[in-house]
Amino acid sequence: MATKKDIVVIPGDGVGTEVMDAALAVLDVVQNKYNYDFTYHQALAGGIATDTVGVPLPDETLDKAKKADAILFGAVGGPKWDNHPPHLRPEQALLGLRKALGLFSNLRPIVLFSGLEDSSSLKAEVIQGVDFVVVRELTGGIYFGEKQRQKDNNGYEYASDVLLYHEHEIERIVRLAFQMAQNRKKQLTSVDKANVLESSRLWRAVVDRVKTDYPDVTVEHMLVDNCAMQLVRRPASFDVIVTENMFGDILSDEAAILTGSIGMLPSASLGEGTLGFYEPVHGSAPDIAGLGIANPTAMILSMAMMLRHSFQDEKAASDVEKAVEKVVHMGYRTQDTKVDSDKTLTTMQFAEKVASLI
Ligand code: NAD
Ligand code: IPM
Ligand code: MN
Repeated sequence: MATKKDIVVIPGDGVGTEVMDAALAVLDVVQNKYNYDFTYHQALAGGIATDTVGVPLPDETLDKAKKADAILFGAVGGPKWDNHPPHLRPEQALLGLRKALGLFSNLRPIVLFSGLEDSSSLKAEVIQGVDFVVVRELTGGIYFGEKQRQKDNNGYEYASDVLLYHEHEIERIVRLAFQMAQNRKKQLTSVDKANVLESSRLWRAVVDRVKTDYPDVTVEHMLVDNCAMQLVRRPASFDVIVTENMFGDILSDEAAILTGSIGMLPSASLGEGTLGFYEPVHGSAPDIAGLGIANPTAMILSMAMMLRHSFQDEKAASDVEKAVEKVVHMGYRTQDTKVDSDKTLTTMQFAEKVASLI
C-alpha cells in the first residue's frame, strides 16, 4: 500500500513558481520510486494572493496549511508590491504562516558540494569541507515585536521595532540546537550581541544554564559581528550555529556564498508538532524571474528535508541529495554557478537531470 501524504504547495511569486515546478517534477519521481500517494493542495500566498483575493495570506491557505502533512513554499515578494502598506506586503504571508503554525525553528544546512568550489567568490582552500547548520529562531525577536511609526512634536517622523525574547522562546531553540550538535560534531556556536543588547544577555544566560544538560557538546559564544567575519575566514570550523531571528537571516545569506550560490540553500521550519514547512533560503529573485534560469537546488533540497523531517524517510531524502550532488559532479550547472557553458541548464532541465538519477 502506498503511503498517503497531503502536501500543501505554495509557489508564491517570481522564481518561487519556477523552482516549485522543478521540485515537483523531482517529487513525482520520488512518489513512484518510494511508493507514496501524494495529494498536492495548491494554495495562494504573497503578491499573487493580494492580486487575486486582496490579502497576502488568505484564510483558506492557512486552513489548508494547518491540515497538511507538510508544506512546500517557493518564495514571495517583488517590486510590484513593495509600496503596499505593511499588512498587505507579500512577506507578511510568510511571517503570518510561520507564526500561526508555531514554526519556531528554522534549520538552514550550509554544505559545499564537491565541484562548486570555483563557483564561490571565496578561495577553494577557505571553503573546502564547509558543512554546518544555522539554527535560526523564527517566530520571535525584532520581526514580531511591536512596531511604531509616529511624528514627534516638531512634526518629524520616528519609528521603532521592538526586539523581545521570552526565556522559553530562547530555551526551546537552544535545546534543539544542542540536540542537533549531539548528533553532529558536538560543537555549538551561539551567536548574539551580548555586549550591547539586553535580549542577547538573556540569550547567553539561557545557553549557559541549559548547557549542563549537554555535557558532551562544546559551546562557544560569539558576537554576531565577529561571526560574520569568521564565517568567511574559517567557515569549515563551524558545526551548529544557533542564533536569534534577524542575525540568522543575515548570516545565512552570507553563508550561502560558501556553497557557491544562494540558489543552493534549503531550509526546514519546524515547531512542537509534526508539521513541517520547507522553503529555499532565497527570495523571489525579481531580477531573473520568468527567464527559466533560477537554480532549483534550494527548493529540491528543501523537498528532501521534507522527506527526512516530516515523512521520516531518510533513504528517499538522501537519495535526492545524492542525485543533486551527482548532477553537480557531472558538471551541470544553472547560470548562477556556471563554469562551463556547454553544461548550463535551465531550471527545469536541471530538475529533470536530478529526477533521472534518483
Ligand atoms: P533574493 O534572494 O530574491 O535575490 C538575491 C539575489 O540572488 C538576486 O540576484 C537573485 O537573482 C539571486 N538568486 C536568488 N535565488 C536564486 C536562485 N534560485 N537561482 C539563482 N539566483 C538566485 O533576495 P532579494 O533580491 O533581496 O529579494 C527579492 C524579493 O524576495 C523581496 O521582495 C524579498 O522580500 C523577497 N524574499 C522572499 C523570501 C522568501 O519568500 N522566503 C526570502 C528572501 C527574500
Ligand atoms: C527569509 C526571508 C524572510 C525573512 C522575509 C521574506 C520575510 O528573508 O526567509 O530568509 O526575513 O525571514
Ligand atoms: Mn532572508
